[in-house]
Amino acid sequence: MEQFLLNVNGKNLEVNVDPNTPILWVLRDHLNLVGTKYGCGIAQCGACTIHLNGAAVRSCQLPISSIGKNKVTTIEGLSENGEHPVQKAWLEHDVPQCGYCQSGQIMSASALLETNTNPSDEEIDSAMNGNICRCGTYTRIKAAIKTASKS
Ligand code: FES
Ligand code: FES
Repeated sequence: MEQFLLNVNGKNLEVNVDPNTPILWVLRDHLNLVGTKYGCGIAQCGACTIHLNGAAVRSCQLPISSIGKNKVTTIEGLSENGEHPVQKAWLEHDVPQCGYCQSGQIMSASALLETNTNPSDEEIDSAMNGNICRCGTYTRIKAAIKTASKS
C-alpha cells in the first residue's frame, strides 16, 4: 500500500492503495464514483473513459502511480447538474438504451469537442471509434455530438 494524493473533479483527495491499482478501481471502490464503468479491462471498449487534464483516457489501464498531479475528471464531475452541452444533447436525442456504455461515450465526446468544436463525421467516427455500444446507439450518439457542437 502507498499513499496517493489525487485531484478528482476539482477536489484534492488522498487514498491508500497498491501503486498498480488502475485508477478505475480507485474511483469506483475507494471514492464511490461509480459512474465510470468496467467493461473489458483491457482498453478495448471505452466504458471506463475519464478525462486526464481534459483528454479522454481509459481508466482500466491507468495505474494510480501514473496519475501524479494530473487532473482527473469523471462523469460525476463533468458538470454541476448535468448541464454540459453533451449531456443536454444526449437527453435531447434520448441516446442511451441500457446505459452501460454511456458515461464513457459522453466522456469521449466531451473531450473531442474541447479540442474540435465542429467535428466532421469522419472526425467523430475516429474519436468515438474506441467506445463500444452493445445496444447499437451509434446513430444517436453521432447526432447528439453534432447537436452539442452547435450549442
Ligand atoms: S473497461 Fe476500460 S476500455 Fe473497457
Ligand atoms: S447503451 Fe447499452 S451498451 Fe451502450
